[in-house]
Amino acid sequence: MAKQKILPARSISGAVEVPGDKSISHRYAILAAIAEGASEIEHFSAAADCHSTLECLRRLAIEVDLRGDRVRIAGKGLCGLRASRRALDAGNSGTTMRLLAGALAGQTFRTTIDGDGSLRRRPMRRVIEPLSKMGARIRSREGGLAPLEIEGAQLRPIEYKMPVASAQVKSSVLLAGLFTDGVTSVLEEVRTRDHTELALEEFGAEIAREGRAIRVTGRPKLSGRKLIVPGDLSSAAFFLVAAMILPDSNLLVHNVGLNPTRTALLDVLARMGATIKPVSVRSENGELVGDLAAEYSPLTGGVVEGGEIAQLIDELPVLAALGPFTDKGVEIRNAEELRVKESDRIAVLAENLRRMGATVEERRDGLRVEGRAAGKLRGAEIEPHGDHRMAMAFAVAALGAEGATMIRDSECAGVSYPQFYETLDRLLER
Ligand code: S3P
Repeated sequence: MAKQKILPARSISGAVEVPGDKSISHRYAILAAIAEGASEIEHFSAAADCHSTLECLRRLAIEVDLRGDRVRIAGKGLCGLRASRRALDAGNSGTTMRLLAGALAGQTFRTTIDGDGSLRRRPMRRVIEPLSKMGARIRSREGGLAPLEIEGAQLRPIEYKMPVASAQVKSSVLLAGLFTDGVTSVLEEVRTRDHTELALEEFGAEIAREGRAIRVTGRPKLSGRKLIVPGDLSSAAFFLVAAMILPDSNLLVHNVGLNPTRTALLDVLARMGATIKPVSVRSENGELVGDLAAEYSPLTGGVVEGGEIAQLIDELPVLAALGPFTDKGVEIRNAEELRVKESDRIAVLAENLRRMGATVEERRDGLRVEGRAAGKLRGAEIEPHGDHRMAMAFAVAALGAEGATMIRDSECAGVSYPQFYETLDRLLER
């Protein structure tokens, strides 16, 4: 397993473009496969997770031609997927497993979908339950764990009130709704990322939002099309936070997705005193895209909680890592979902922050990380527990620490950002 050494830096400056958004890439690929005709997707995510989705689609007899960050998918329509003799492999990707489960529930064949050790520990009952209500038969390991064996069926529409704030669950039900003869509704108490809704609209589905309900009409004619994926704000987050840690930083991130259901990190950082300005904001395929200009500003820190949590769920690791560089520290509440991500992120954050000398209180639903007054971070050996966002969050903390940090198993960053360390290194001044 590779180790990555991270040395302290003075600033992060210059211009950068991040890989295509992971969430949007998964959705465009899946919808392209069940649309009629070819789709061409530009700036497709480089993430291993999105390549897992493409590999699963290939196994379902979809032609996928990937060249660099462009992918051409020959859609075969709602009924065009074919049974795979072997199990599908979702790798480390919860989005692949949960979203595909929705699309596979409406097929006329049986599919087994599996994943790596981390994915086999993550909760799947949250999709098994609504998809079963729609008529699918899904077998899992004890406790609702993968592998899942999905017996496709003629599905019926349901009205589903979401018990967890999860865009993956919402998307799974909406995708299954495409295979019904009626209108499927999902009610969400807390608003989660709406890329599925926007993508469905782009591909020609009938989809409506009324208050807290999202309704999709079954059996639409989806048409293949050209799409461009915006840069991934969740990847840009590591560089933006680094710019708030390293004095003299002046960074421009080009073409990053600014969908309002994803930008809570920018609101939180602004509240703490950050200067990060969106420029040249435009819309592409229904998604907002723009550049972000970030200048170093000392941050006050503060509390992140409530409805905001779902909208910056993937940015919480790097926000926690920012804690020791702020005046008041950072406190995260109502984030129990972090315990069932690629790792138990609350425990892994606490463990590694402590390795670097931070003062941390671990709680059931979050953590409190003390600010500057508790002392400067020291370089340490970091154990990311195979979790890409842990590796990258601690690489960022290491830039502002004293002495060198070693990130164990550093290549796990490739799950979402294969060129992360090289890109970071290019932007740093030491
Ligand atoms: C995602 C939704 C989030 C997020 C994940 C990607 C998506 O998960 O953590 O990285 O693409 O829908 P949940 O919706 O399960 O919280």
